Amino acid sequence: VDGVVVDRLGRRKRKLRVSLTDRCNLRCPYCMPDQPQWLPKDQILRQEELMRLLKLFVGRLGIQELRLTGGEPLLRKDLNQIVEQCQSLRAQGLERVSLTSNGILLAARAKTLLSAGLDDVNVSLDAIDETVFARMSGGHGSAAEVTAGILAARDAGLPVKINTVIMRGYNESEILPLVRWARSQQVPLRFIEFMPLDGSGAWSAERVVPESEMLAPLRDEFALEAMPATDDPARYYRVGGDYKLGVISTISKPFCQRCDRLRLTATGELYSCLFSATGRDLRAPLRNGADDEALLNAIRGHVWFKEEGYAATGYVERPISMHALGG
Ligand code: GTP
Ligand code: 5AD
Ligand code: SF4
Repeated sequence: VDGVVVDRLGRRKRKLRVSLTDRCNLRCPYCMPDQPQWLPKDQILRQEELMRLLKLFVGRLGIQELRLTGGEPLLRKDLNQIVEQCQSLRAQGLERVSLTSNGILLAARAKTLLSAGLDDVNVSLDAIDETVFARMSGGHGSAAEVTAGILAARDAGLPVKINTVIMRGYNESEILPLVRWARSQQVPLRFIEFMPLDGSGAWSAERVVPESEMLAPLRDEFALEAMPATDDPARYYRVGGDYKLGVISTISKPFCQRCDRLRLTATGELYSCLFSATGRDLRAPLRNGADDEALLNAIRGHVWFKEEGYAATGYVERPISMHALGG
C-alpha cells in the first residue's frame, strides 16, 4: 500500500528515530563502551542525504513523528538547519519533530531550537548528586549543566521530559532525590529499566531494577496512583496528588506487540527493532543513485520482516550499542 508502512504482523509504523551522530560528550556506561571508536565522518549521512530519506519516510510511508537522537544530537553542527528543513515535511503529514539530548549543551540552544520549529525535547538525567552523576556519565559533564538545560528549555517554552535509566548498584539511591527535584519544578520524569544495549558489557539481569522496585522508595514519601494507559511507552503514576511520573518497563513489561517505531542510524542503516541483529543499509543505494522507488522497496521490504520483538525471541547479543543506534 502506498502511503503507509507496515510489518507482517500488521503493526503500522508512525514514528522514526533518527540518529544524527554517534558522537557524544558523555560516556554513560549503559549506552557505550568507555573507549568508543567514533565512526569516520564520511560514513555519516550528509544533510541532503538525510533529508531525501526523511521526505520518503514522511511523504510516502506515513511517518508522523521524527525524534532526532545521537549520540548527542546537539554535537551535530547543522542540527538547527535539519530541524528547519523538517518543517517543510509538515505539509506531507509530519506532526512532530522531537529531540532526545543529554542536556549538557541545551541551555544555550533551547530558544533557537524552538524558533527552528522543534516541538519538544527529552533530556537524560540520571542523578542530582554530582558523585552519582559522574558514575552514570563516565566522569563527563555535571548534573548542574543538565538541570540548567532542562530549566532553560522549559522557560523558553519548549516542552521537556526527563529520562532516567536506573542501574542497580549505580544510581537507585537517586530515585527519590530526582522525583523530589522534578516534582518541585513540575517537569515530567520517566524512569527507564536498563536494557542490554550498552556495548560495554555492563548489563546483567541483576543490574535491572524493575518497575515495582523503582516505585517502592517513593511510596514511603508520596501517595502513588496508577493512571490510565496511553500510547506512550511509559506507564504513568500520579505522585503526591499533583505530579505525573512515568516508568518505561521495557524489560519487565515489553511493548513489542504494539511497536510503531523504526530507527535510522547516523550511517543510514534502518533498524526495525532496538534488538534487531542487523539493519538494512540505505546509504549505499542512496550514494549509488537509487531512485525513490528502489529506496521505498528496500525500506518496505526490511520493515515487513520485522521480528516479533525481543519479548518473544529473547535478547540477542548485538554488535551495535545504544549510542550508535540512537536510543
Ligand atoms: P516520547 O514517548 O515521544 O516522549 O519519546 P520516547 O520515549 O520514544 O523517546 P526517548 O528517546 O525519550 O526514549 C526513552 C526510552 O524509551 C529510551 O530508553 C528508549 O531506548 C526507549 N525506547 C524508545 N523506543 C523504544 C522501542 O521501540 N522499544 C524499546 N524497547 N524501547 C524504546
Ligand atoms: N537502557 C535503557 N535506556 C537507555 N538509554 C540509553 N541506553 C539505554 C539502555 N541501555 C536511554 C537514555 C536516553 C534514551 C535515548 O535512551 O537514557 O534517554
Ligand atoms: Fe551520550 Fe546519551 Fe549515550 Fe549518555 S546515553 S553516552 S548522553 S548518547
